[in-house]
Amino acid sequence: AVALLSSAAFAQQTLLQEITESGELRTCFDAGYMPFEMKAKNGQFIGFDVDLGKQMARAMGVKYVPVNTAWDGIIPTLLTGKCHLIMGGMTITPQRNMQVNFADPYVVIGQSILLSPKLEGKVSSYRDLNSEEFTVVTKLGTTGEGAIKRYLPKAKVNLFETQSEAVLEVTNGKADAFIYDLPFNAIYAAEHQGQLVHLDQPFTFEPLGWAVRQGDPDFLNFLNGYLRQIKGDGTYERIYDKWFKD
Ligand code: ARG
Repeated sequence: AVALLSSAAFAQQTLLQEITESGELRTCFDAGYMPFEMKAKNGQFIGFDVDLGKQMARAMGVKYVPVNTAWDGIIPTLLTGKCHLIMGGMTITPQRNMQVNFADPYVVIGQSILLSPKLEGKVSSYRDLNSEEFTVVTKLGTTGEGAIKRYLPKAKVNLFETQSEAVLEVTNGKADAFIYDLPFNAIYAAEHQGQLVHLDQPFTFEPLGWAVRQGDPDFLNFLNGYLRQIKGDGTYERIYDKWFKD
C-alpha cells in the first residue's frame, strides 16, 4: 500500500506544477470576438483576455502561449489538455458548468441586438423580434443561440461558424437581426455606422468566467486569488479601460 501510494503521488503532477515546469501558460480562446480576442494585422493576438492572460503568465513567471481554437471545439480542447484554461469570454452556464469548472466572473455582459436599419422604429426590443416574419442570426454554440431558442422561439434562425459571417447577413440584408454579446455589438456598430442599429439594452444576464478542467481546486484557487488581487490593485481596471473605453 505504501509503494502504491507513493508512486501515485509521483505520477500525479498538479497543473500548477506542470505550468511551472513547462514554463508556459497555455490559454484557449476563439479569436474574432471583440474586444476580448482579435487577430491583429501582424498576426499577433490582442484584446482584453490576451492582456489578462499575459499579465497572469508574468505573475506566474512563465510564458503566455495563446491557443486559438474554434468555438464549438473549445471545451473539448481544454478537456484533452491542449490548453490549461479557457480565457475566451465564456459565459458561465449550467450546461457548461457540468463539464468544466469556472473561476469567479471577471466581467458581466448580456445579449443585445444589431438590427437591420429597415426595421428601425418597427422593432425596439427582442420581444418584437419573436415572430416568424423575422430571421435572426448568431454564432453557433454560443449563448446567443441559447437566447434565441429561449426568447425568440418563433423567429427563423440561421447559425454561423463565426460571428463576422453571422453579422454580415444583416448588413447584406439576408437577415433581420444579429443577437450577440453586447461588447462585440457595441464595437461592431461603431465601426459600421449607418449599416446597423444597435438595440443596446441587454436582455440576458451573463457572467463570464475562465474555465478549467474539473477536479483541480488548487488551480481554481490560484485564479480566484489572482483575480481578487488585480481587481484590488488597479491592474484589472487599467486593462479593462484600455479595451472597453475609447
Ligand atoms: N459569451 C458567449 C458565450 O459564452 C460568446 C463567447 C464567444 N467567445 C469567443 N471567444 N468567440 O457563448
